[in-house]
Amino acid sequence: MCGIVGYIGSRGAFPILFDGLKKLEYRGYDSAGVAIIEGNEMQLRKSQGNLEVLGEKLKNENFQGRIGLGHTRWATHGKPSDANAHPHLDCRGRLALVHNGIIENFQEIKRKLEEEGHFFSSETDTEVVVHLVEKFFQGDLVKAVRRATKELEGSYAIAVINCESPEQIVAYRHDSPLILGIGDGEFFLASDIPALLPYTRRVLILEDGEMAELNRTNFRVFDSHGVQIQKEIEEIDWDPEMAEKKGFSHYMLKEIHEQPDVLRRLLSDPLQGSGLELPQIASILERLEKINRIFVVACGTAYHSGLIGKALLERTTGIPVEVDMASEFRYRSPLVGEESLVIVVTQSGETADTLAALRYAREKNAQTLGIINVKGSTISREADDVIYIKAGPEIAVASTKAYLNMVAAFYLLALKMGQGNVDQENLKELLRLLRGIPAQLEKVLQKGDKAVREASEYLSRWENAFFVGRGLDFSLALEGALKLKEISYIHAEAYAAGELKHGTLALIEEGIPVVALLTQEKLLEKMISNVQEIRARGGYVLGITQEKLAQRLEGEVDFIMTVPSTEDMLTPLLATVPLQLLSFYTAELRGCPIDQPRNLAKSVTVE
Ligand code: M6R
Repeated sequence: MCGIVGYIGSRGAFPILFDGLKKLEYRGYDSAGVAIIEGNEMQLRKSQGNLEVLGEKLKNENFQGRIGLGHTRWATHGKPSDANAHPHLDCRGRLALVHNGIIENFQEIKRKLEEEGHFFSSETDTEVVVHLVEKFFQGDLVKAVRRATKELEGSYAIAVINCESPEQIVAYRHDSPLILGIGDGEFFLASDIPALLPYTRRVLILEDGEMAELNRTNFRVFDSHGVQIQKEIEEIDWDPEMAEKKGFSHYMLKEIHEQPDVLRRLLSDPLQGSGLELPQIASILERLEKINRIFVVACGTAYHSGLIGKALLERTTGIPVEVDMASEFRYRSPLVGEESLVIVVTQSGETADTLAALRYAREKNAQTLGIINVKGSTISREADDVIYIKAGPEIAVASTKAYLNMVAAFYLLALKMGQGNVDQENLKELLRLLRGIPAQLEKVLQKGDKAVREASEYLSRWENAFFVGRGLDFSLALEGALKLKEISYIHAEAYAAGELKHGTLALIEEGIPVVALLTQEKLLEKMISNVQEIRARGGYVLGITQEKLAQRLEGEVDFIMTVPSTEDMLTPLLATVPLQLLSFYTAELRGCPIDQPRNLAKSVTVE
């Protein structure tokens, strides 16, 4: 939620800030702004709307300043408007500040500051911070920022520049991510790594309570007591190209097409021998006998991957698994204890509810495991063990490749944790088939998407749709429906196919599109009966199945999309692709802003 960038060095700051904001736009895009120190003056430009709007406004400007901050916003306090856009200035327009997070006690602080004579120009929570820095500034910006943060409650990553000390950026992190990029005689800061990749791969990830001071030749980091500390610089192995569109019209489409490669990357180490290696879970395997319950906790798409994880883990380990939405988890007082394994799943590693769930689990002394994409993220640093899903930067708000690799990580985890229980020949065969999935995904993507495009044309004309399936297909249906809602704004609901007749069948009317997942051979007959019930009431059934089952569906569905054949247990890894493409093409036909759907942000760092 919100992206912040900063630059200090010998180059003009504006293009670097603007380029960085483009990489962070997935974090919020309802307004944007920059503040640059030119000579001794603060130049502030901000505007409601996405970066394109700001870019258009600034196209004739010629900024010279070599220090500045930028921000792209996802509104929490105060509607999207020019005034509420960041950066925010102090009363005299000498200090500029950007913020990612929420200041929970801002009302109280604002009241006091107003009594003291401070003048506010926005409705945001953020503006209090810059006025606090102004209040405490006595010639030392580091001290003033530190003093100001003592007044704040909530989550915040902030960065401040000051015309009185134009050779300095001060940044502070508390519960919202902030990363320093270390260049050659220049320094950067950003909410996420992709913004830094075109300039440097050497990064330093701030921890909660840490403060950084960047100047033109050096940087310093201070711990929560204000003591200067030495932190290790990390080398990021992501390549800048990974965060580009590479000729695709949208990040989402590019990310869908990357899936064979990202899956190969995830599987390559664990499956390089004849068996399955997963050293990341060594400590879990040591305690396996003691684990009596597994909780999987996540949000949105990551939660849907957890539903598949549950089915797999229960099947292989025999341990009961509960799947919780992270936003609900800690409020239902779950029976988590020392004998629990709590698995948190998250692409960003920053989702506020997932982080809170992890902290709850740790308080209860549960063993914790993260299934995470972003290295160095808060959740990756707080979980006991981590399986990185190696999907590379995912920029589109709608998650695709990260979902695939989350699901794949659950296969690895379930097969490794359950290897003692699974028949060895069966295990070998599953591993062989798993190794072959990236090549099968390539086929799905290469064979052309004619059928999916035709299905999208049908779907795009409706305002309501249903997704149905049984077993693993039901979990996949939930994800398919979320994807469609998120990017095409069609109201879509997923149902366990057998449940329709308990109420929802009343909504089936002539022509209504129903996407039926029919990949589970063992459940095919039951699904065919459910599909008949739908068609008998006028529903138009768009079926997705394995090639080997297609013949059995002739005459049973209105439209068919196929994926290569595999074991029932592995089909989610293949069938997810037509679902993603179906949403993508439908949204494209409806003219939706696919990579940046309205009201959303990629990284949800507020509860
Ligand atoms: O970064 P996370 O995986 O924790 O994010 C969780 C959800 O916000 C995310 O999966 C969301 O549902 C996606 N935008 C859906 O495509």
